[in-house]
Amino acid sequence: MKGVILAGGKGTRLYPLTRMMNKHLLPVGKYPMICYGVDRLRKAGITDILLVISRQSAGMYTDFLGSGAEFGVSLTYKVQEAAGGIAEALELAKDFVSAGERFVVLLGDNLFTEDLTPYVDSYLRQPEGTAKVLLKPVEDARRYGVPVFDSTDSAWIAHIEEKPKQPKTSYCVTGIYMYDKAVFDIIRRISPSRRGELEITDVNNLYAADRKLSYDVLKEWWSDAGTFDSLREAGEKLKDALP
Ligand code: G1P
Repeated sequence: MKGVILAGGKGTRLYPLTRMMNKHLLPVGKYPMICYGVDRLRKAGITDILLVISRQSAGMYTDFLGSGAEFGVSLTYKVQEAAGGIAEALELAKDFVSAGERFVVLLGDNLFTEDLTPYVDSYLRQPEGTAKVLLKPVEDARRYGVPVFDSTDSAWIAHIEEKPKQPKTSYCVTGIYMYDKAVFDIIRRISPSRRGELEITDVNNLYAADRKLSYDVLKEWWSDAGTFDSLREAGEKLKDALP
């Protein structure tokens, strides 16, 4: 099992701070945000990790994390030249993953306390060519991708609505995804959305349409730290989370 952390993007919701440095390097507790995803993967036994970073601040990632040895992992870096969406960033992982291999994808601003091991184990028992997403009940699902469950077999997601005005469930699809190499064929089948980006929800919806998208629900604290309020909350929650 390998890991991919997507840590590019413009972070416009955190302007003007993110004009100075990439969002995933902003402080959360004692560490830059990116360290928490690395730590969650390492905790689940995933030490071969690709970081997809932006051109902005690229040197700061290597300054801080280096080879990853100090953090107990081995890091590879890829630069996403322009922010073209989460699925476009994910495509950069194509050569990092070999045929038959599976991997966990984390959006770098998704911070959480739970051990991913049971979810990874359950994904490894799924048939080849299927995917898994992790969900979390949230107060305001309108900010997120929201799952609609298959009415005949609730083990599968039927569809995901991206930032719906009237969410059909109170779950959010977190930025924690599990795939195998088939995902790169799926990415080739999607087109840019109205905002001109390759959307991860379009990728997941192709799996869902074939009843190939399973889910588990996170039990512990989770947040995406992409806004000033959630960044502040994450800093408070995780202030003693890493050594
Ligand atoms: C992205 C995804 C969305 C997901 C969210 C989780 O949204 O598109 O489906 O619920 O991450 O953090 P973004 O935060 O990029 O708007």
